[in-house]
Amino acid sequence: MPDSRRRATSGPQPPHRRRTDAPTGRTGAPARRPARAAARPPRPDRLEVTFLPGLGDVVHDEVVEVLHPPRPPRPVPGRDDALELDLPGWDDRVLTLRTAVAVFVSLHVDVPRPRSLVSGDHLARIAAAVRASLAVAPSRAFRFEAAGSGSPDFTRLGAALASAVGLPYAPDGGELVVKVRRGTAGRPGTDPGWDVLVRLGPRPLSARPWRSVDYPGAANATIAAAMVRLAGVRPRDRVVNLMCGSGTLLVERLLAGPTAAAHGVDLAAAALDAARANLAAAGVAATLTRADATDPACLGDERFDLLLADPPWGTLHGSHTDSPRLHTDLLGAAHHLAAPGARLVVLTHAVTVMERAVRAADGQWRAETPVRVFAKGHHPRIYLLRRC
Ligand SMILES: C[S@@+](CC[C@H](N)C(=O)[O-])C[C@H]1O[C@@H](n2cnc3c(N)ncnc32)[C@H](O)[C@@H]1O
Repeated sequence: MPDSRRRATSGPQPPHRRRTDAPTGRTGAPARRPARAAARPPRPDRLEVTFLPGLGDVVHDEVVEVLHPPRPPRPVPGRDDALELDLPGWDDRVLTLRTAVAVFVSLHVDVPRPRSLVSGDHLARIAAAVRASLAVAPSRAFRFEAAGSGSPDFTRLGAALASAVGLPYAPDGGELVVKVRRGTAGRPGTDPGWDVLVRLGPRPLSARPWRSVDYPGAANATIAAAMVRLAGVRPRDRVVNLMCGSGTLLVERLLAGPTAAAHGVDLAAAALDAARANLAAAGVAATLTRADATDPACLGDERFDLLLADPPWGTLHGSHTDSPRLHTDLLGAAHHLAAPGARLVVLTHAVTVMERAVRAADGQWRAETPVRVFAKGHHPRIYLLRRC
């Protein structure tokens, strides 16, 4: 069904932008006003949520829980990193998803070439999607992500869209990303058309505002959020992040909901400084301790219900030689620190080493099937273990 028909019953419109709210260029100059403010096309209902491959189930569950779509999200055909959903009247709650990399307004346009996107209704629909994005989070300029985005067709489309929306087109530095990609082939012999995706927000959701210190080897925040969801968020949990580095797992757990206690442990003073800065930027608090997290006595008599860790994996912190001992000792110390019924969630790239450590910890920890994630050329796994 063409999008124009699907959108016949769309949700509430974004508020019309007052003149003083108009987006400005990077120089601070007021942007041009929309060419046509009247008779705007309806706000698009369809969203595409992108994520790191492997996290699809966790992202699906979070989308359902947070956004309550009338029908469950479904995979985007041919993709392992995106879900689509129809959500009439969506609002800025979409920006609160923690396991997603980004959320886009999604349009399908039945044209054979991108050059036709500039014409009539198509441009108006794309402009409506950009306005809907700006209504939930401002951006100063937009750019295209598309094959051939430097071509004259895209230059023309950029100029037309800038004029329609009143937002500068900055091909090399626009914050607001507009992706244009081939549509999914439908019936054999028919043209697949084009998908246009307008990101919500000037940055991906995965770029956390709380990350004030970029610590080498820091965990991806969407993976950290997935670890937290896999373990379950329980307000009475006493939480410890062993080998906490700059505190990504700890911050994501604290932002997910209240805890009874929160601790971070690392050997390196620089790591704890980074964690302290990130916790403060996130507006959350935890006790940080400089200690060897493979020492069962590292936190005295304290016991924990949720233990989170991403041990070093040999390139930035630690060494490949140390890895087997480190993983084995981590599971041993974690068992000592764990209260009855505790969960331990470990993110590691050292899969063979971890599998061996889990087998050796039989009787202490019971492991669920690990979740394999694809992140920037690495394939770490998330292990959820329950204390025996
Ligand atoms: C992969 S980094 C953790 C990154 C962290 N999740 C973040 O987001 O910044 C591993 C951390 O383990 C710490 N570490 C290594 N061996 C340790 C040990 N025996 N006890 C405590 N911390 C250790 C390192 O100092 C490093 O900060």
